[in-house]
Amino acid sequence: MSHLFDHHGAPGKGYSQPAPVLPATEISVPSSLVRKQAARWPRISEPEMVRHYTWLSKRNFGIDTGFYPLGSCTMKHNPRINEVIAQLPGIADIHPHQPEHHLQGLLSIYHEMQHMLEVCAGMDQVTLQPVAGAQGEFTAVRCIQEYFRLRGEDQRTKVIVPDSAHGTNPASAAMCGFEIVEIPSRTDGRIDLDALRAVADETTAVMMITNPNTLGLFEADILEASAIVHDVGGQMYYDGANFNAILGITSPGLMGFDAVHFNLHKTFSQPHGGGGPGSGPIGVKAHLADFLPGPIVKKRPIMGDEAKHAIEDMWFGWYEPVHSIGKVQQWHGNAGAVIRCWAYYRRYGNGLKTMSEHAVLNANYLRHALHREAEKAGVSDMIVDGAETDVAKHEFTISLGPAKESHGISAMDIAKGLLDMGYMAPTVYFPLVVPECMMIEPTETESKETLDTFAEDFAKVLQVDAETLHAAPITTPVRRVDEVYAARNLCLRHPYDED
Ligand SMILES: Cc1ncc(COP(=O)(O)O)c(C=O)c1O
Repeated sequence: MSHLFDHHGAPGKGYSQPAPVLPATEISVPSSLVRKQAARWPRISEPEMVRHYTWLSKRNFGIDTGFYPLGSCTMKHNPRINEVIAQLPGIADIHPHQPEHHLQGLLSIYHEMQHMLEVCAGMDQVTLQPVAGAQGEFTAVRCIQEYFRLRGEDQRTKVIVPDSAHGTNPASAAMCGFEIVEIPSRTDGRIDLDALRAVADETTAVMMITNPNTLGLFEADILEASAIVHDVGGQMYYDGANFNAILGITSPGLMGFDAVHFNLHKTFSQPHGGGGPGSGPIGVKAHLADFLPGPIVKKRPIMGDEAKHAIEDMWFGWYEPVHSIGKVQQWHGNAGAVIRCWAYYRRYGNGLKTMSEHAVLNANYLRHALHREAEKAGVSDMIVDGAETDVAKHEFTISLGPAKESHGISAMDIAKGLLDMGYMAPTVYFPLVVPECMMIEPTETESKETLDTFAEDFAKVLQVDAETLHAAPITTPVRRVDEVYAARNLCLRHPYDED
C-alpha cells in the first residue's frame, strides 16, 4: 500500500484502544448514536500511516519547500522559535476556561499584544477575538453599525469601496446588511477623490480601503479621503492586510482611520493558507471601543490575595465592553496564532520598522530584477508594470497584457509555467483593474539570491512557446484543472462510503 486512499476500509487492526475505565454499563450513549456497523475507515499500522502523510506532504507546496511570492497573502518564513514558544506547557496545556489566576502569563502576553497593535496602528483599543482578516472586517463593520444605531443614525446604509478593494471588503459589509457602493480608481491606480465626493453623503456609514492599496501603491491622498468621509459623518475602515509595508513608519491612526483589522498571520508570521488558520484582531478609536467583542484583557492594580498568583505588579483580567456586539469566536480567539505572532514581534522588537523597510526593498528590487532579466532575454516587451510608480510598497503588479496580445500567452499560462519551475505562482487576475494581472509579494524574509534566481526563471518562462505553456504545468501531481468546474464541484472527501 502506498497511501491511505488505496486502503478502502479494509478490515484489520491498526490501533488498539485502551480498555475503558468505566464499566460498559455506565457509559450511556443514546442508541440512536450507536453505529449499526463498524465504520469503513482504513485500519492501518503506524508505519503505513506515517508513509501516507509523508507521501501527502510531498504532493504539497509550501513556504518551507520553495519561494512563495503570492501577492496580498504575505507568505513569509515562520521561524521555528514561534513553535517552541507556542508549545511551552504553560501555554499549550491550559484550558481557556481556567480562572484568571491560572492564566496570568497568557493574559500578560495577550495584553502586550493588544498594546503593541494599538501603538502600531494608532488605535485606542484592540480585541484579539476574530480569527481571520475577513472576520475582522465583518466584526469592525458590525461595531460601527452598532455605534450608528445607538446614535439614532439608521439612515447610514451604504459602504463605499474602491474598485481595487479585496473581495472580502464588500462581502463583509454586505453580510452586515449594507449596500455596497463601488468607486472607480484613477488611471494611475489611486483613489479618485472626485468619485468619492460624488457618493459620500449622510447615508454613508463606512469607507473601507487598504493602504498601500492592492496595487502596492501608497494612497497619498488618504488624509483628504478621510476628511471627505468624516465631513459627512461616516467612518473610515482600514483593511490591514497590507500592514507589512508601513509598520513603524506610519499608522492607520495617523491617516485618519477609525477602525482597522490586522492579519496577524501575514504581518507577524504564522503558517497559513487555504483559508486558515489565522488571527484577525481589530483595533478601534475610543468612540468605538465599547462595541468590541470581548473578552479583552485589561490591567488593573492587584487586589487582596491575588498577589500570590500575580507575575507582575499589576493584575491581568478579562473584561467585556459595555455595548459589545457579542462574541464572534469561541473562547479567546486563536490563541496559538496570537502566541506565534507575539513571538515573532518579540524577536523583532524595535526592528519592526526594519521589517517593513526590507519588505518594501525586496519588492522593489524584484520588480526591477524582473524587467532587467526580461530585457536580457529579449522579452521585455511582454510585460509592463501594472501601475505607474517610482517606488512600489511591499508588493507590486505587472500586466501580461502585451504577452497575451503578441503571443497569446496569458497571466494564467505564465503562472502555470512558474509551477513547473518549482515556484508557487504569484496571485493572478487580482486586482481586477489591471489586465492580465500578476501580483507579486516576495516579503522581507527572502534573500537577494532567491529574488535574482526567480527573476531569471521568470524570464525563462516568458521565452517558452505558447503551446507548451498552455499545457503547463506538467511536473505537478495535478495538471491544469478546470478551475470553474473545481470551484463549483468541490470534492474534499474520499468517497469511502460510496463503493
Ligand atoms: C487586501 C486583503 N484584505 C483582506 C484579506 C482577508 O484576509 P484573510 O485571508 O485573513 O481573511 C486579504 C487576504 O488575502 C487581503 O489580501
